[in-house]
Amino acid sequence: MDDIIDFSSDLVIFGALGDLARRKLFPALYQLERSGLLPGKSRILALARRQGTTAEVRTQLAKDLRQAIPADELSDESLAALLARVEYHRLDFKEASDFAAVAQWRGGSDNALIVYLATPPDLYGVIARNLRTAGCCNQQTRVVVEKPIGHDLESSRGINDQLADVFNEDQLFRIDHYLGKETVQNLIALRFANNLFSSQWDQNHISHVEITVAESVGIEGRWGYFDQAGQVRDMIQNHLLQLLCLIAMDPPADLSADSIRDEKVKVLKALRPITPDILETHLVRGQYSAGTSSGRAVPGYLEEEGANRCSTTETFVALKVEIENWRWVGVPFYIRTGKRLPEKLSQIVIHFKPAPHYIFDPDQKHLAHNKLIIRLQPDEGMTLQILTKDQGLDKGMRLRQGPLELTFSEAFANDRIPDAYERLLWEVMKGNQYLFVRRDEVECAWRWVDGIIANWKGRGAPLKRYAAGTWGPVASIALITRDGRSWYEDTGY
Ligand SMILES: NC(=O)c1ccc[n+]([C@@H]2O[C@H](COP(=O)([O-])OP(=O)(O)OC[C@H]3O[C@@H](n4cnc5c(N)ncnc54)[C@H](OP(=O)(O)O)[C@@H]3O)[C@@H](O)[C@H]2O)c1
Repeated sequence: MDDIIDFSSDLVIFGALGDLARRKLFPALYQLERSGLLPGKSRILALARRQGTTAEVRTQLAKDLRQAIPADELSDESLAALLARVEYHRLDFKEASDFAAVAQWRGGSDNALIVYLATPPDLYGVIARNLRTAGCCNQQTRVVVEKPIGHDLESSRGINDQLADVFNEDQLFRIDHYLGKETVQNLIALRFANNLFSSQWDQNHISHVEITVAESVGIEGRWGYFDQAGQVRDMIQNHLLQLLCLIAMDPPADLSADSIRDEKVKVLKALRPITPDILETHLVRGQYSAGTSSGRAVPGYLEEEGANRCSTTETFVALKVEIENWRWVGVPFYIRTGKRLPEKLSQIVIHFKPAPHYIFDPDQKHLAHNKLIIRLQPDEGMTLQILTKDQGLDKGMRLRQGPLELTFSEAFANDRIPDAYERLLWEVMKGNQYLFVRRDEVECAWRWVDGIIANWKGRGAPLKRYAAGTWGPVASIALITRDGRSWYEDTGY
């Protein structure tokens, strides 16, 4: 645990009564309070559009938190301490004169100012300018922004330019909440603290990599928003590319934010464009039709509430990604993500190459490679599949594949796994940017994704149907079996 220095902050949450703030930010702040990580002088200014007094908002937040926090983690004392820090103001974020209330609340405070923009991205620029006009910002101000940063390269540049007009890059904390997950950070420890793995982490030893981010839910009332984006923009551009970067990047010189982010950018720049000639073999787009989820019948994407029956937006995508550099030449990264898949699962599988010369039973040759399975959710942890001899006199030198298991919740049973937002907020308070996405990362990711979208629009990548509750269109199985491989859940070993 970090030394507790005084990181007292004035946290101003724009959009404090929205879904993100109520479901994620306040529960995370509660946990920081409970852990003693919110320094005594810290204050929270909650801002939204609707009428309400501080007392009413505190009552609402208390109700939310009592529902969201597990009973054994709920302490009346911590709850009261957190709520005592909260003040509510009604503000129109587009109205410059309203921002005098923020300046007044700040008064002569010498706490660092942290501005959390939990609002639609089209408000980021106007809020930044209004804060400046009200005299609220200085060089120490930190600004946290949520994804999506735009819906393509051009719009992301527009948003980044507006923010850059008021703040320096070292003041901007762009959230990709996957980077706050314990296991994602553990990727850095696993790769760079264990020579066992770092010495094997390249095309000489790894045959291919799978990354799966599966959701069992459908659209959950967000049809209009989602249909404008689709799975490539909503998930690949940010979460999956971030995971891919952490798996593929070269060792950073140190753990500083820029060393890590420099290495991630190099990976993004080395991604092979998905050009029209390889579209068919490297991309599968899917959309779910009616099926079953957790044993109950569920509608298809086009039958969801508010749906436009003609939509061709993808709810599933699988890609074969190639990284054109020395470390990864010839090692495909098969990545896929979708809605209404059989389970909620985020997992990376590293497939190692077999030993150079095989001397065991020929019929077991298909078993003879190690796999490292990294689970981000559920049951965060890692499993290394290794080969041992099967036990028993009659077994001879038959091989058996078995797991070396590290399930964090069991291995570190007394340590609660913090939610991503707890860690991210804590790092913002400390001013550490290494878990946040730099402007050039966002823009490199958009450049690659824009290329894919432009090519499929030009060439017409067909949309394949899949029944809700299955692992996506049959074509996504063909995407990997064409290379003589299969998705992890299909191999059974
Ligand atoms: N929700 C999530 O799980 C999630 C996940 C990842 C990223 N994000 C991103 O986080 C941001 C917030 O998402 P959200 O789901 O929390 O949105 P939301 O539920 O629509 O909340 C938006 C908040 O902004 C306030 N607001 C909007 N326009 C305003 C204005 N002109 N003046 C004053 N207040 C205004 C709303 O105030 P009122 O309540 O008073 O109307 C509300 O508190 C978005 O950029 C989203 O893409 C959300």
